[in-house]
Amino acid sequence: MKSLLNKISNRPPGHGLPPACYTSAKFLRLEKRLLFLKEWHCLGRVDEIPEVGDYFTIDLASEPLLVVRKTESEVTVLSNVCRHRGMPVASGAGNTGKFRCPYHAWTYELSGKLRKAPLVPKERIEKDCGLPRLNSHCWKGFIFVSLDAEADWSEGQESQTLVPLERHLANYHMQDMHHAASFVETWQCNWKSLVENFMDGYHLSVVHPESLHHLTPTSLCKKVTGSAAFTTYTANYTRTAPVREKHHPSLTAEQVKQSHLFCVFPSLIASVSADTLVYLALHPLSASEVSVKWGVATFESDLSEAEISARVNKWKQINNEDHQILQRLQAGLRSKFSVTGPLAADNFEGALLDFHRFLLQKLGVETTSNV
Ligand code: FES
Ligand SMILES: [Fe+2]
Repeated sequence: MKSLLNKISNRPPGHGLPPACYTSAKFLRLEKRLLFLKEWHCLGRVDEIPEVGDYFTIDLASEPLLVVRKTESEVTVLSNVCRHRGMPVASGAGNTGKFRCPYHAWTYELSGKLRKAPLVPKERIEKDCGLPRLNSHCWKGFIFVSLDAEADWSEGQESQTLVPLERHLANYHMQDMHHAASFVETWQCNWKSLVENFMDGYHLSVVHPESLHHLTPTSLCKKVTGSAAFTTYTANYTRTAPVREKHHPSLTAEQVKQSHLFCVFPSLIASVSADTLVYLALHPLSASEVSVKWGVATFESDLSEAEISARVNKWKQINNEDHQILQRLQAGLRSKFSVTGPLAADNFEGALLDFHRFLLQKLGVETTSNV
């Protein structure tokens, strides 16, 4: 591990991370401790659960979580682990008035408060036998959670350092976009490879020759300044790209012809355009496997099933192309001949440098290179 950290520190300026960062179980353990048990991570969109009692379950860093709309105005994130003997209380998604543990029928309110523990003598029930509530925050319609009991979004750097991104994307009104579909998949690659892939305009024309090159070729990508909490780049459209007719009136003519790809560090990657928001929330399962919750939201609230399917299918194709290439990348990264190479100019791979800077700062790695 020490030699890997030395390799990171001493790599040449403008180079990627050493391949072992993407394959080492030890490195992942460090990331889990310092990033996934500490930082803020996206679990989905608030309007996936629009009605009181709507809920979904999701795992983050091996923690089973339960996301529930407790009241019309409040979404809450609970530990999905029964306080009796540890059974996950809920599974999948749905709507309910209470959560009943499938093992011995302990029952909890939507707030997590214990309502009933059949046949358990009252004196044995401690005061706080409810499901623990985690720190959560809604940002632009995204539900964020932190497993760190001390975390406070309003006092942390997120509230400050995301401001430039909020300004940059304000006209798209992401918070008002309408949830259309979401999926949970397992991708066979390191979670950082997926962040880097999403934030790299370099691969667009090569990996997506049919699905994206004619719309957002690599040559038109433009890096935008990031911060300690995010990175972003703009994928500009070709002159022949179809015009997006329906969008928020505040968008400029230029913004209608752009997609903005951004990463809220460390694990939310997203693309917003005039009429569509696509996000991928990443939760690593191992060094070479990542759980991907991805979803699509639309500007329009009245799309037909067929129109939604068309938009979702387009992204299924793009994601599939990315998954295929990242799966093959993972095999290459395991090779003893794999090395850290120089990155392309900032407009095409500069966002990776922002991501690496964040990562290494959080992991406490001192670096002599200019990342
Ligand atoms: S583990 Fe939940 S009621 Fe027993
Ligand atoms: Fe891609």
